[in-house]
Amino acid sequence: MSEETAILDVRAVSLQFGGVRALSGVTFSVAKGELFAIIGPNGAGKTSMMNCISGRYTPTDGRVVFKGRDVTDLKPNQRADLGIGRTFQNLALFGHMSVLDNIMVGRHHLLKNGFLSGALYWGLAQREELSHRRAVEDIIDFLEITHIRKAMAGTLSYGLRKRVELARAIALKPDLILLDEPMAGMNLEEKEDMARFIIDLNEEWGISVIMIEHDMGVVMDISHRVAVLDFGQKIAEGLPDEIMSNPRVKTAYLGEDDAEEVA
Ligand SMILES: Nc1ncnc2c1ncn2[C@@H]1O[C@H](COP(=O)(O)OP(=O)(O)OP(=O)(O)O)[C@@H](O)[C@H]1O
Ligand SMILES: [Mg+2]
Repeated sequence: MSEETAILDVRAVSLQFGGVRALSGVTFSVAKGELFAIIGPNGAGKTSMMNCISGRYTPTDGRVVFKGRDVTDLKPNQRADLGIGRTFQNLALFGHMSVLDNIMVGRHHLLKNGFLSGALYWGLAQREELSHRRAVEDIIDFLEITHIRKAMAGTLSYGLRKRVELARAIALKPDLILLDEPMAGMNLEEKEDMARFIIDLNEEWGISVIMIEHDMGVVMDISHRVAVLDFGQKIAEGLPDEIMSNPRVKTAYLGEDDAEEVA
């Protein structure tokens, strides 16, 4: 993949926690507009990989290149400013704040006049605030959470909270969004809704996606390409069909004896 078509290049990234090697020389590229999945057994290093991309962790070795720019040494908020959005494996909403305010938090770093909204800037700031409100309302419409926009986030069902978290991540206007198990703990209907939203934000909003997901049905249905991690190493990468029939992947998931049963 050339620099021009890749939105993200992960180059030989390793990550060490004391004696634990969470990632070992992992390399892959995500194309602009791609919906890319990272799968692998528990503890394989998937969340660690996301954290290296978002800036929460700095790789021990290797580089992370976003839109042609080396971001390895940038902080999470700097990477967010450049267009890397994310959700968390464990929910990170403000339970005592309304859905609307939670989403506005995602928008906050875009508010340029936040602290200058005194005498001189009040008109400008107001117009800006209004345009932010509109952008947030678009997101609320898109994710079909209009009916709960005033509700306290903490009172919502798990599935809805996940949706609000996604709304907040989109509010940041990312070019690339990182989704860590967006469907974990959801029932079938909630999963189908979430899958549809992910496809739409990819296809209609043009946001590139990296998704970690354990539900293989979902991964195979909606992702364009898949990378497989096992014990911190990339053991496969390819189209969903190729991954499903890859013997190494079957073994990683089920152990040698049960490998036949995946097919
Ligand atoms: N902050 C940390 N400190 C020490 N070790 C960590 C830390 N974060 C992750 N690890 C270790 O790194 C390895 C990879 O963990 P990681 O959370 O990236 O796996 P994962 O693929 O996301 O797993 P899961 O599917 O359970 O979410 C594990 O051995 C884990 O214990
Ligand atoms: Mg994880």
